[in-house]
Amino acid sequence: MKHKDRRDWSEKDLKKHIVDQRKHLWRESTIERVASWLDLRSRITAVDIGCGLGYLGWTFWRHYGSGSSYIGIDCSIKLLREAQEIQSEWSEGGNACFVNGSAYSIPLPDECADWTMCQTLLMHLEFPENAMNEMIRVTKRGGVIMCMEPDNISSSMSMVSNSVHSPSIEEKLAQFKIQLIWAEGRKKLGRGDWGIGTRVPGMMAELGLINIDALYNDSPRFVHPPYETEVQKYSIEKMRENIKDKDEDTKKLLRRRYKECFLAGGGSLSTFYRYMKSVEARQEEWETMVLDQLENSSYCHGISGSHFYCIRGFKPERE
Ligand SMILES: C[S@@+](CC[C@H](N)C(=O)[O-])C[C@H]1O[C@@H](n2cnc3c(N)ncnc32)[C@H](O)[C@@H]1O
Repeated sequence: MKHKDRRDWSEKDLKKHIVDQRKHLWRESTIERVASWLDLRSRITAVDIGCGLGYLGWTFWRHYGSGSSYIGIDCSIKLLREAQEIQSEWSEGGNACFVNGSAYSIPLPDECADWTMCQTLLMHLEFPENAMNEMIRVTKRGGVIMCMEPDNISSSMSMVSNSVHSPSIEEKLAQFKIQLIWAEGRKKLGRGDWGIGTRVPGMMAELGLINIDALYNDSPRFVHPPYETEVQKYSIEKMRENIKDKDEDTKKLLRRRYKECFLAGGGSLSTFYRYMKSVEARQEEWETMVLDQLENSSYCHGISGSHFYCIRGFKPERE
Protein backbone atom coordinates (compact mmCIF):
# COMPACT_ATOMS: atom_id res chain seq x y z
CA MET A 1 0.00 0.00 0.00
CA LYS A 2 1.32 3.44 -0.94
CA HIS A 3 1.40 5.62 2.13
CA LYS A 4 4.80 7.19 1.68
CA ASP A 5 3.31 10.52 0.74
CA ARG A 6 0.55 10.58 3.33
CA ARG A 7 0.38 13.80 5.29
CA ASP A 8 -0.59 14.03 8.95
CA TRP A 9 -3.94 15.71 9.55
CA SER A 10 -2.51 17.63 12.47
CA GLU A 11 -0.58 19.81 9.96
CA LYS A 12 -1.91 23.36 9.99
CA ASP A 13 -3.60 23.56 6.58
CA LEU A 14 -5.24 20.13 6.91
CA LYS A 15 -6.35 20.63 10.48
CA LYS A 16 -8.12 23.78 9.36
CA HIS A 17 -10.60 21.53 7.53
CA ILE A 18 -11.53 19.58 10.61
CA VAL A 19 -11.83 22.67 12.77
CA ASP A 20 -13.11 25.56 10.61
CA GLN A 21 -15.23 23.55 8.18
CA ARG A 22 -16.78 21.46 10.91
CA LYS A 23 -18.28 24.49 12.66
CA HIS A 24 -21.32 24.69 10.36
CA LEU A 25 -20.95 21.54 8.31
CA TRP A 26 -24.37 19.96 8.91
CA ARG A 27 -27.57 21.75 9.88
CA GLU A 28 -28.83 20.95 13.37
CA SER A 29 -32.12 19.81 11.83
CA THR A 30 -30.26 17.34 9.59
CA ILE A 31 -28.34 15.93 12.55
CA GLU A 32 -31.69 15.41 14.35
CA ARG A 33 -33.04 13.69 11.27
CA VAL A 34 -29.99 11.44 10.90
CA ALA A 35 -30.18 10.46 14.58
CA SER A 36 -33.78 9.29 14.28
CA TRP A 37 -33.15 7.67 10.87
CA LEU A 38 -30.37 5.64 12.52
CA ASP A 39 -32.57 5.04 15.56
CA LEU A 40 -29.77 6.15 17.91
CA ARG A 41 -30.31 5.33 21.55
CA SER A 42 -28.47 5.32 24.88
CA ARG A 43 -26.12 2.63 26.22
CA ILE A 44 -24.47 1.67 22.95
CA THR A 45 -20.92 1.30 21.68
CA ALA A 46 -20.11 3.75 18.89
CA VAL A 47 -16.92 3.48 16.87
CA ASP A 48 -15.63 6.33 14.67
CA ILE A 49 -12.92 5.46 12.14
CA GLY A 50 -10.63 8.30 11.05
CA CYS A 51 -12.17 10.25 13.91
CA GLY A 52 -9.83 13.25 13.84
CA LEU A 53 -10.73 15.39 16.83
CA GLY A 54 -13.93 13.39 17.47
CA TYR A 55 -16.39 15.54 15.52
CA LEU A 56 -18.98 12.80 14.96
CA GLY A 57 -18.69 11.76 18.60
CA TRP A 58 -19.66 15.15 19.99
CA THR A 59 -22.06 16.13 17.20
CA PHE A 60 -24.38 13.21 17.91
CA TRP A 61 -23.61 12.86 21.63
CA ARG A 62 -26.96 14.11 22.91
CA HIS A 63 -28.68 11.44 20.82
CA TYR A 64 -26.71 8.43 22.11
CA GLY A 65 -24.19 9.51 24.77
CA SER A 66 -26.02 8.61 27.96
CA GLY A 67 -24.42 5.44 29.31
CA SER A 68 -22.64 4.87 25.96
CA SER A 69 -19.06 4.40 24.88
CA TYR A 70 -17.53 6.26 21.97
CA ILE A 71 -14.25 4.93 20.59
CA GLY A 72 -12.39 7.12 18.10
CA ILE A 73 -9.76 5.45 15.91
CA ASP A 74 -7.22 7.46 13.93
CA CYS A 75 -3.73 7.09 12.52
CA SER A 76 -2.62 10.54 13.69
CA ILE A 77 -1.21 10.33 17.21
CA LYS A 78 -1.06 14.13 17.44
CA LEU A 79 -4.75 14.57 16.65
CA LEU A 80 -5.72 11.83 19.07
CA ARG A 81 -3.79 13.51 21.85
CA GLU A 82 -5.78 16.69 21.27
CA ALA A 83 -9.05 14.77 20.91
CA GLN A 84 -8.40 13.10 24.27
CA GLU A 85 -7.74 16.47 25.91
CA ILE A 86 -11.06 17.99 24.77
CA GLN A 87 -13.31 14.95 25.17
CA SER A 88 -14.27 15.79 28.77
CA GLU A 89 -15.97 18.94 27.39
CA TRP A 90 -18.60 16.88 25.58
CA SER A 91 -18.69 13.31 26.85
CA GLU A 92 -20.61 13.81 30.07
CA GLY A 93 -22.82 10.87 31.08
CA GLY A 94 -20.85 8.35 29.03
CA ASN A 95 -17.35 7.43 28.06
CA ALA A 96 -15.17 8.60 25.14
CA CYS A 97 -11.73 7.24 24.37
CA PHE A 98 -9.32 7.38 21.46
CA VAL A 99 -7.13 4.64 20.03
CA ASN A 100 -4.33 4.91 17.53
CA GLY A 101 -4.79 2.54 14.61
CA SER A 102 -5.38 2.03 10.93
CA ALA A 103 -8.71 1.92 9.11
CA TYR A 104 -7.31 -1.12 7.29
CA SER A 105 -6.78 -3.04 10.50
CA ILE A 106 -9.05 -1.60 13.16
CA PRO A 107 -7.62 -2.45 16.60
CA LEU A 108 -10.96 -3.76 17.94
CA PRO A 109 -12.48 -7.23 18.19
CA ASP A 110 -15.15 -8.58 15.83
CA GLU A 111 -18.75 -7.44 16.37
CA CYS A 112 -18.18 -5.05 19.27
CA ALA A 113 -19.93 -1.92 17.94
CA ASP A 114 -23.63 -1.05 17.61
CA TRP A 115 -22.83 1.90 15.40
CA THR A 116 -19.70 2.25 13.28
CA MET A 117 -19.13 5.48 11.44
CA CYS A 118 -16.75 7.60 9.45
CA GLN A 119 -16.76 11.04 7.95
CA THR A 120 -14.48 12.17 5.09
CA LEU A 121 -12.24 9.16 5.61
CA LEU A 122 -13.02 6.91 2.62
CA MET A 123 -12.38 9.80 0.22
CA HIS A 124 -8.72 9.84 1.34
CA LEU A 125 -8.04 6.11 1.15
CA GLU A 126 -6.46 4.12 -1.63
CA PHE A 127 -8.54 1.06 -0.70
CA PRO A 128 -11.87 2.30 0.70
CA GLU A 129 -13.52 -1.13 0.30
CA ASN A 130 -10.93 -2.67 2.62
CA ALA A 131 -11.64 -0.03 5.26
CA MET A 132 -15.39 -0.56 4.88
CA ASN A 133 -14.88 -4.29 5.28
CA GLU A 134 -13.11 -3.63 8.55
CA MET A 135 -15.94 -1.33 9.67
CA ILE A 136 -18.38 -4.14 8.96
CA ARG A 137 -16.22 -6.66 10.82
CA VAL A 138 -16.26 -4.65 14.06
CA THR A 139 -20.02 -4.01 13.86
CA LYS A 140 -22.49 -6.28 15.69
CA ARG A 141 -25.05 -8.21 13.69
CA GLY A 142 -28.05 -5.90 13.25
CA GLY A 143 -25.80 -2.88 13.89
CA VAL A 144 -25.48 0.09 11.58
CA ILE A 145 -22.59 1.46 9.52
CA MET A 146 -22.77 5.15 8.65
CA CYS A 147 -20.49 6.98 6.20
CA MET A 148 -20.61 10.73 5.68
CA GLU A 149 -18.70 11.24 2.46
CA PRO A 150 -18.86 13.90 -0.25
CA ASP A 151 -18.77 13.84 -4.00
CA ASN A 152 -16.39 16.75 -4.34
CA ILE A 153 -16.00 16.25 -8.07
CA SER A 154 -19.63 17.25 -8.56
CA SER A 155 -19.26 19.98 -5.94
CA SER A 156 -16.31 21.48 -7.77
CA MET A 157 -18.51 21.71 -10.83
CA SER A 158 -21.39 23.36 -9.01
CA MET A 159 -22.15 26.76 -10.44
CA VAL A 160 -20.50 29.36 -8.27
CA SER A 161 -21.54 32.96 -8.56
CA ASN A 162 -19.78 35.79 -6.82
CA SER A 163 -19.56 39.52 -7.01
CA VAL A 164 -15.86 39.55 -7.86
CA HIS A 165 -15.49 37.50 -10.98
CA SER A 166 -17.86 35.96 -13.47
CA PRO A 167 -15.94 33.35 -15.52
CA SER A 168 -16.69 32.86 -19.20
CA ILE A 169 -17.99 29.50 -20.48
CA GLU A 170 -14.47 28.72 -21.76
CA GLU A 171 -12.95 29.51 -18.38
CA LYS A 172 -15.48 27.30 -16.59
CA LEU A 173 -14.94 24.39 -18.96
CA ALA A 174 -11.16 24.72 -18.68
CA GLN A 175 -11.41 24.75 -14.89
CA PHE A 176 -13.66 21.65 -14.82
CA LYS A 177 -11.25 19.81 -17.09
CA ILE A 178 -8.28 20.68 -14.88
CA GLN A 179 -10.24 19.49 -11.81
CA LEU A 180 -11.18 16.21 -13.48
CA ILE A 181 -7.59 15.50 -14.53
CA TRP A 182 -6.37 16.32 -11.02
CA ALA A 183 -9.01 14.07 -9.40
CA GLU A 184 -8.12 11.21 -11.74
CA GLY A 185 -4.43 11.55 -10.83
CA ARG A 186 -5.23 11.78 -7.13
CA LYS A 187 -6.95 8.41 -7.35
CA LYS A 188 -4.11 6.90 -9.37
CA LEU A 189 -1.58 8.03 -6.77
CA GLY A 190 -3.57 6.28 -4.05
CA ARG A 191 -4.68 9.52 -2.42
CA GLY A 192 -8.36 8.65 -2.66
CA ASP A 193 -11.46 9.18 -4.75
CA TRP A 194 -12.56 12.83 -4.60
CA GLY A 195 -16.03 11.82 -5.73
CA ILE A 196 -16.49 8.76 -3.50
CA GLY A 197 -19.82 9.86 -1.97
CA THR A 198 -21.86 8.53 -4.87
CA ARG A 199 -20.02 5.18 -4.80
CA VAL A 200 -20.56 4.38 -1.13
CA PRO A 201 -24.11 2.90 -1.36
CA GLY A 202 -22.99 0.48 -4.08
CA MET A 203 -19.91 -0.43 -2.06
CA MET A 204 -22.11 -1.20 0.97
CA ALA A 205 -24.40 -3.40 -1.15
CA GLU A 206 -21.40 -5.22 -2.61
CA LEU A 207 -20.13 -5.96 0.90
CA GLY A 208 -23.45 -7.42 2.05
CA LEU A 209 -25.09 -4.59 3.99
CA ILE A 210 -28.86 -4.26 3.82
CA ASN A 211 -31.51 -1.55 4.09
CA ILE A 212 -29.07 0.94 2.58
CA ASP A 213 -30.23 4.52 2.31
CA ALA A 214 -28.74 8.01 1.96
CA LEU A 215 -29.49 11.53 3.11
CA TYR A 216 -28.14 14.73 1.63
CA ASN A 217 -26.40 17.62 3.30
CA ASP A 218 -28.84 20.48 2.80
CA SER A 219 -26.65 23.19 4.27
CA PRO A 220 -26.66 26.04 1.74
CA ARG A 221 -23.59 28.09 0.90
CA PHE A 222 -24.78 31.64 0.39
CA VAL A 223 -23.03 34.78 1.56
CA HIS A 224 -24.73 38.12 0.94
CA PRO A 225 -25.16 41.46 2.67
CA PRO A 226 -26.05 42.26 5.39
CA TYR A 227 -24.33 38.99 6.46
CA GLU A 228 -26.87 38.40 9.20
CA THR A 229 -26.64 34.72 10.04
CA GLU A 230 -24.05 33.11 12.25
CA VAL A 231 -22.92 30.93 9.31
CA GLN A 232 -22.41 33.95 7.07
CA LYS A 233 -20.53 35.88 9.75
CA TYR A 234 -18.29 32.87 10.31
CA SER A 235 -17.72 32.39 6.54
CA ILE A 236 -16.64 36.01 6.18
CA GLU A 237 -14.30 35.80 9.14
CA LYS A 238 -12.65 32.71 7.62
CA MET A 239 -12.41 34.31 4.17
CA ARG A 240 -10.60 37.29 5.67
CA GLU A 241 -8.28 34.99 7.61
CA ASN A 242 -7.50 32.87 4.55
CA ILE A 243 -6.71 35.90 2.41
CA LYS A 244 -4.36 37.28 5.06
CA ASP A 245 -2.66 33.93 5.61
CA LYS A 246 0.47 34.16 3.46
CA ASP A 247 2.10 30.90 4.41
CA GLU A 248 4.32 30.52 1.35
CA ASP A 249 5.75 27.12 2.38
CA THR A 250 2.28 25.58 2.60
CA LYS A 251 1.30 27.17 -0.70
CA LYS A 252 4.38 25.65 -2.35
CA LEU A 253 3.63 22.26 -0.86
CA LEU A 254 0.02 22.32 -2.05
CA ARG A 255 1.06 23.46 -5.51
CA ARG A 256 3.59 20.59 -5.73
CA ARG A 257 1.01 18.03 -4.65
CA TYR A 258 -1.53 19.44 -7.08
CA LYS A 259 1.02 19.16 -9.86
CA GLU A 260 1.81 15.53 -8.96
CA CYS A 261 -1.86 14.58 -9.25
CA PHE A 262 -2.40 16.61 -12.40
CA LEU A 263 0.50 14.90 -14.16
CA ALA A 264 -0.54 11.45 -12.88
CA GLY A 265 -4.04 12.16 -14.28
CA GLY A 266 -2.60 12.67 -17.76
CA GLY A 267 -2.23 16.46 -17.72
CA SER A 268 0.80 18.09 -19.29
CA LEU A 269 3.35 20.24 -17.52
CA SER A 270 2.78 23.12 -19.93
CA THR A 271 -1.00 23.11 -19.27
CA PHE A 272 -0.35 23.01 -15.52
CA TYR A 273 1.98 26.01 -15.59
CA ARG A 274 -0.30 27.96 -17.94
CA TYR A 275 -3.27 27.34 -15.62
CA MET A 276 -1.34 28.22 -12.45
CA LYS A 277 0.05 31.37 -14.05
CA SER A 278 -3.42 32.55 -15.04
CA VAL A 279 -4.85 31.88 -11.57
CA GLU A 280 -1.95 33.39 -9.69
CA ALA A 281 -1.88 36.48 -11.91
CA ARG A 282 -5.44 37.36 -10.88
CA GLN A 283 -5.43 36.01 -7.33
CA GLU A 284 -4.14 39.15 -5.66
CA GLU A 285 -6.52 41.38 -7.58
CA TRP A 286 -9.51 39.18 -6.61
CA GLU A 287 -8.46 39.05 -2.99
CA THR A 288 -8.19 42.82 -2.81
CA MET A 289 -11.64 43.14 -4.39
CA VAL A 290 -13.13 40.65 -1.91
CA LEU A 291 -11.70 42.57 1.05
CA ASP A 292 -12.92 45.91 -0.38
CA GLN A 293 -16.39 44.55 -1.06
CA LEU A 294 -16.61 43.02 2.38
CA GLU A 295 -15.59 46.35 3.84
CA ASN A 296 -18.40 48.19 2.04
CA SER A 297 -20.88 45.31 2.41
CA SER A 298 -21.32 44.57 -1.28
CA TYR A 299 -19.64 41.14 -1.49
CA CYS A 300 -21.77 38.09 -2.16
CA HIS A 301 -21.37 34.53 -3.36
CA GLY A 302 -23.51 31.46 -3.82
CA ILE A 303 -22.61 27.85 -4.45
CA SER A 304 -25.27 25.59 -5.87
CA GLY A 305 -24.96 22.69 -3.52
CA SER A 306 -22.24 20.84 -1.70
CA HIS A 307 -22.68 17.21 -2.68
CA PHE A 308 -22.24 15.61 0.70
CA TYR A 309 -24.05 12.42 1.70
CA CYS A 310 -24.82 10.54 4.87
CA ILE A 311 -25.14 6.89 3.87
CA ARG A 312 -26.18 4.06 6.14
CA GLY A 313 -26.42 0.30 5.83
CA PHE A 314 -27.21 -2.46 8.33
CA LYS A 315 -25.21 -5.60 8.98
CA PRO A 316 -27.65 -8.51 8.53
CA GLU A 317 -28.76 -10.30 11.71
CA ARG A 318 -27.72 -13.63 10.20
CA GLU A 319 -24.93 -14.65 7.84
C1 LIG B 1 -10.72 14.62 6.77
S1 LIG B 1 -10.19 13.98 8.28
C2 LIG B 1 -11.77 13.63 9.03
C3 LIG B 1 -11.75 13.65 10.53
C4 LIG B 1 -13.11 13.48 11.20
N1 LIG B 1 -13.77 12.27 10.76
C5 LIG B 1 -13.98 14.69 10.93
O1 LIG B 1 -14.91 14.58 10.12
O2 LIG B 1 -13.69 15.75 11.49
C6 LIG B 1 -9.61 12.35 7.92
C7 LIG B 1 -9.08 11.64 9.14
O3 LIG B 1 -8.81 10.29 8.79
C8 LIG B 1 -7.56 9.91 9.35
N2 LIG B 1 -7.01 8.85 8.51
C9 LIG B 1 -6.59 8.93 7.23
N3 LIG B 1 -6.19 7.73 6.78
C10 LIG B 1 -6.36 6.86 7.80
C11 LIG B 1 -6.13 5.47 7.96
N4 LIG B 1 -5.64 4.73 6.97
N5 LIG B 1 -6.41 4.90 9.14
C12 LIG B 1 -6.90 5.65 10.18
N6 LIG B 1 -7.14 6.95 10.08
C13 LIG B 1 -6.88 7.57 8.91
C14 LIG B 1 -6.74 11.18 9.35
O4 LIG B 1 -5.69 11.17 10.29
C15 LIG B 1 -7.79 12.23 9.68
O5 LIG B 1 -7.92 12.47 11.04
